[in-house]
Amino acid sequence: MLKKRSWAEPYKIKMVEHLTMTTRRQRERAIADAGFNTFLLRSRDVYIDLLTDSGTSAMSDMQWAALMRGDEAYAGSENFYHLEEAMRRHYGYKHLIPTHQGRGAENILSRICIKPGDYVPGNMYFTTTKLHQELAGGKFVDVIIDEAHNPDSEFPFKGNCDLKKIQRLIDDVGADKIPYLSLETNVNMAGGQPCSLANIRDTAALCHKHGINVFLDATRAIENAFFIKEREPGYADKSLADILLEICSHTDGCTMSAKKDSLVNIGGFLAINDDAIADEARNLVVVYEGLHTYGGMAGRDMEALAVGIEESVQFDHIHARIGQVEYLGHKLIEAGVPIVHPIGGHGIFINAKKFLPHIPQSQFPAQALAAALYVDGGVRGMERGAVSAGRDKETGENILPSLELVRLTIPRRVYTQAHMDVTAESVMSLWDDREKIVGLELTYEPKHLRFFQARFAPINADRVLNTDVS
Ligand code: F0G
Repeated sequence: MLKKRSWAEPYKIKMVEHLTMTTRRQRERAIADAGFNTFLLRSRDVYIDLLTDSGTSAMSDMQWAALMRGDEAYAGSENFYHLEEAMRRHYGYKHLIPTHQGRGAENILSRICIKPGDYVPGNMYFTTTKLHQELAGGKFVDVIIDEAHNPDSEFPFKGNCDLKKIQRLIDDVGADKIPYLSLETNVNMAGGQPCSLANIRDTAALCHKHGINVFLDATRAIENAFFIKEREPGYADKSLADILLEICSHTDGCTMSAKKDSLVNIGGFLAINDDAIADEARNLVVVYEGLHTYGGMAGRDMEALAVGIEESVQFDHIHARIGQVEYLGHKLIEAGVPIVHPIGGHGIFINAKKFLPHIPQSQFPAQALAAALYVDGGVRGMERGAVSAGRDKETGENILPSLELVRLTIPRRVYTQAHMDVTAESVMSLWDDREKIVGLELTYEPKHLRFFQARFAPINADRVLNTDVS
């Protein structure tokens, strides 16, 4: 009798890239040289790189072939028109403004729409998105549901907006001080948690009633569409492409980091329905990115992106992609490792507060755990907690967010199930020895987005740098 069948990759491997194998002693030296910040490691010193799913996907043979069709004209490249067609077919917006990556689009949108003193509600912050809103003079206001801040809540749509929080903000500051709501799909900082279509519809209706635009952060919208298909009544028989179009149809435009869902190594775009905003964006893109028909991308990159968008909405692709993330997540859950529930779309988020209860949040437990994981198995993850949250703009104090996480982000179509096994074993061995991990203190702190370049030192150096050689 046939039970539920396993997922498997809808592709086979045509080319391989060799990885360096390192010893524990080499890794101890590398992480100390990197100031205990996994962003500062050299990739040659990393075995399994789960730092990010951004720009790290494996392109298909069809995408590599598309690179050869690059039309490197300064203006009016054929590739721009192919990208515009793909964006309109799958995201459904009227105007396409290409950018070099997602934050390029965020910069332009924030500069056009936000005035000093404005408030920008959003369903949890993303680092670059919030920074661009602040640089434009706005203040980010978190309107995600409370469940999103609880790593143990099993709520299936932890990315949802809380309509009461939006209404309260409108009542408090007035709709004319709210240029738009920033709606992120498969909310990254919450652990890759989706929004339901019902919530997207209701959020947009509330905002539009008050004349407030809704701009989607569509970076992982297709992964969100997969969860809607799996979890939301009425969507099981709809295609991912149809669900994606329906998500976008409720919004007025999007910013997009194509380095995630769209399976390319670089690229992004701003898509807008409003003609006047689009005109202004085409003006600004020339200042910050490049002409409005390439926006910082080479022609060949736009072509690979157009093909990537088509591949990204295929059910078998997302099924295998999220299947792999869930495979790793279930292994950790079975071993009792505390991770964010439900398992998200693009990675596993280890709950460092529960993993290392002996390290106070002011000593950056997630940063310490990410460094320890690298030393143990050559696996590179990323801190998503107090270091990423930065400092309060007014008080200058460290923000101590409820979520103190280590993100193990799975690049698309890159690693095998065996790599997931090795990763799980490394996390599990740290879990068994967790009390040996010590906290960190900052030794260098950059002004903006400090997590990228900050340096740390262990608070009790003798204990973290044990000299076992494996
Ligand atoms: N929005 C979301 C939700 C993102 O996750 C990112 C990038 C961006 C915007 C910015 O896009 O990098 O192309 O400029 N996230 C990466 C990550 C960096 O590792 O999560 P970008």
